[in-house]
Amino acid sequence: MAPKTYIADIAKYLGQEVTLQGWIYNSTQKGKLQFLMLRDGTGIIQGVIFKGNLPEELFDACLALTQESSVRLTGTVTEDKRAKGGYELQVSAVDIVQIAAEFPISPKEHGIDFLMEHRHLWLRSALQHAVLRVRHEVIRACRDYFDDLGFTLIDAPIFTPAACEGTTTLFETNYFDEKAYLTQSGQLYMEAAAMAFGKVYCFGPTFRAEKSKTRRHLTEFWMIEPEVAYCDLAMDMELAEGLLMKIVERVLENRREELLRLERDLSALEAIKRPFPRLDYDEASRMLKDAGSPFVFGDDLGAPDETLISQNFSSPVMVTHYPAAVKAFYMKRDPLRPERALCVDVLAPEGYGEIIGGGQREDDLDTLISRITAHHLPKSAFDWYLDLRKYGSVPHAGFGLGLERTVTWICGLQHIRETIPFPRTISRIYP
Ligand code: 4AD
Ligand code: MG
Repeated sequence: MAPKTYIADIAKYLGQEVTLQGWIYNSTQKGKLQFLMLRDGTGIIQGVIFKGNLPEELFDACLALTQESSVRLTGTVTEDKRAKGGYELQVSAVDIVQIAAEFPISPKEHGIDFLMEHRHLWLRSALQHAVLRVRHEVIRACRDYFDDLGFTLIDAPIFTPAACEGTTTLFETNYFDEKAYLTQSGQLYMEAAAMAFGKVYCFGPTFRAEKSKTRRHLTEFWMIEPEVAYCDLAMDMELAEGLLMKIVERVLENRREELLRLERDLSALEAIKRPFPRLDYDEASRMLKDAGSPFVFGDDLGAPDETLISQNFSSPVMVTHYPAAVKAFYMKRDPLRPERALCVDVLAPEGYGEIIGGGQREDDLDTLISRITAHHLPKSAFDWYLDLRKYGSVPHAGFGLGLERTVTWICGLQHIRETIPFPRTISRIYP
């Protein structure tokens, strides 16, 4: 029996007989020949069927193969310079697994709502395939980066008793006789873990009841969150810069083909260099004013402001020292300017917006208690967190990188919804 293999590994079998298992992408017929484009998830290859090589009934049955019909093709691997991938399969046997019903997604243009409604099938298309392969590479780069630096992966819970990033975007759920919330960030748990393991990270889904319909917001997204004990803002920024360099290097190394298929301008990614520009909030606001933005000093940066700033640089920009009033309760204040937070937002180039948020954490018990009160947060839900400031509190810092925002930027996409297999937005929870 011919060995079963994948299209990606076909080169190893030149001149030999193999069996490929996949789905029909396209088919054409020319007299005594049928050409079946087969995809198996790892690649696409053309299978050539010559009428004389198959029993007549089988040859005729193959004529009925519709788009997405599932088949096993056995044949000899030949080289063909003109073929995509460089190889063809001279088919000697066909095992039809299922004749597919009429596939709703054809090569013609479909509206985005239709495609999202059929996301479970749309995943099979070449562009979605490319995006999700880049996503996988970004995830691998993040994990390798932290693993190689000796970080320990610590998983954070999904059900939580309280808010981390403000109460307006909490998803509430019943938890037996109590109320619980879906996590907005694993950060607070990583702070506990950093005091136990020194340097840690979590990588998991996070949830925000974002009522705004934008190209950058999902209600369920994935975040990679490192946290380091004995770390200040400057060290935290170095860590973030290294992570982004690693991501860019890895996708350029391993996912060039996918990026080109997405028509990504690779030169924009190749132009990214360390050190990234660093601006404090004051410099950023001057830049916005000079560009004629209606931005009001003291406010958080809006999406158009982030775009304006990023247009001045070819690498990601690190904006620091925002007014503490627009940031979360846990941020440590700058001792020299107590109205400012020791925080950083990293803005992606080319107007893709904030991809990282983080900074140094408040490590003093009494200050933290007063912040929790000032933010009208229920202190009882934070008693465990306050313990961390009682038992060996140290300066510490961390950040969160939004995976889908990062993939949107790396792939050069218009909308974040394409970067996650099954997007959840304000208007979508199906399929
Ligand atoms: O800036 P954020 O809110 O920071 C935190 O959650 C911190 N607790 C992280 C930490 O320090 N450990 O979110 C971090 C990143 C943002 O920069 C953005 O990339 C992404 O998460 N993000 C979203 N991505 C998609 N949809 C949303 N609704 C997002 N909200 C935040
Ligand atoms: Mg943020």
